[in-house]
Amino acid sequence: MAATPAEGPIMQPPSDPVAAVTHPDPYPYYAALLQRPFHRDGALGLWVAASAEAATAVLASPACRVRPPSEPVPPPLRGGAVGDLFGRLVRMTDGDAQARAKRAVAAALDIPADTVAAEARRRAMALVDDGLSLDALMPALPMHVVGALLGFAPDRLSEVADRMRDIVAAIAPGASPEAIGAGHEAAARMVALTEDLLETGGDGLARYLRDAAEREGGIDPAVVTANAVGFLFQARDAGAGLLGNAIVTLGAWPELRRAAAADRTLLPGLVQEVLRCDPPAQNTRRFVAEDTGIAGQALRAGDAILVVFAAANRDPTLNRDPDRFDPARPERRLLTFGHGRHACPGEEIAAAIAVAGLDALLDRFTAWPERPAGYKPSPNIRMPRFA
Ligand code: HEM
Repeated sequence: MAATPAEGPIMQPPSDPVAAVTHPDPYPYYAALLQRPFHRDGALGLWVAASAEAATAVLASPACRVRPPSEPVPPPLRGGAVGDLFGRLVRMTDGDAQARAKRAVAAALDIPADTVAAEARRRAMALVDDGLSLDALMPALPMHVVGALLGFAPDRLSEVADRMRDIVAAIAPGASPEAIGAGHEAAARMVALTEDLLETGGDGLARYLRDAAEREGGIDPAVVTANAVGFLFQARDAGAGLLGNAIVTLGAWPELRRAAAADRTLLPGLVQEVLRCDPPAQNTRRFVAEDTGIAGQALRAGDAILVVFAAANRDPTLNRDPDRFDPARPERRLLTFGHGRHACPGEEIAAAIAVAGLDALLDRFTAWPERPAGYKPSPNIRMPRFA
């Protein structure tokens, strides 16, 4: 079937690849972007890496950093708990210390698939049975699952989800001073709760991360704590978008939904194909630290690059017949989880959470929306709204 579920009146294409993230149907635009695989968008002030080759070359380049070298922490967040947390995340740093912390993070997240699946199923059923709306369920599920995997007790998970909402809102571009203030408070509390978890025992990802940090020869305890909170930070919006985009797919195609309801073994392939065709993280950014050449273009220190996963996933050099939505696609390749030294170490956990969420919804939920009401404003995360 065609990979684009959106239907309806003829609509204007998005104006640029940032606007595409929340457009009802950005995929014809992304396909056109592949004709200009790596170009400079003067209006955005960004290089745009759209093809699979350009995207992977940018992500592999040692000259490309995750933050502008002069601004490791966004200025509005400096001097508070959110800024401290941000500046310690493996996601937001580069260099040797990052590489060691990243190895510890990846080792901690390497937990048995059946442990993740069982926790995800338990949390998904509990939240669906609580009667959460789809809009509330999408961000809550990854927070409850990753919170439980970190070692938090069930009665702590709602607070964890609320605090993470406030942290993520503070980091969003253009956050108000009030939102940043609430984020600082939430970050200080999450750090305290996580330190508590590490001190008082409890089996889970926080402990595994600390043990893995010791095996790396010791890592600053504040970095360990920040990256344990970072698991929640990384999982929240992308996890919400993945579940949401999978709900959109099943809503648009009742036949597929009926097939998946009758045979749940279809769900993992379906989630992978949603990750490829309608990815929750549609792009990421890199900042050029020194003059360099990438994929035939000369880049200067100070340049910024938008790496468009959502276009690259449909590059025909990566996947044959890329616009076809095929949950059984053999040899699927996707860039949705990044590439190179910052690639996502939580890929399997992310997919398991979405599978469990869909499984619980297929058991209990009947009012599948045919299409979303819109998309939550964001420069990179595609997360539908249903109400
Ligand atoms: C659908 C859900 C998810 C998606 C689409 C996703 C995607 C990504 C992407 C694209 C990156 C790399 C960003 C870049 O290179 O600029 C990343 C990094 C990361 N993700 Fe995920 N992620 C998801 C869920 C998770 C979960 C559940 C966890 C942990 C439990 C996690 C942990 C991380 C960490 C720690 C990093 C930073 C790695 C580094 O910078 O070295 N992610 N993720």
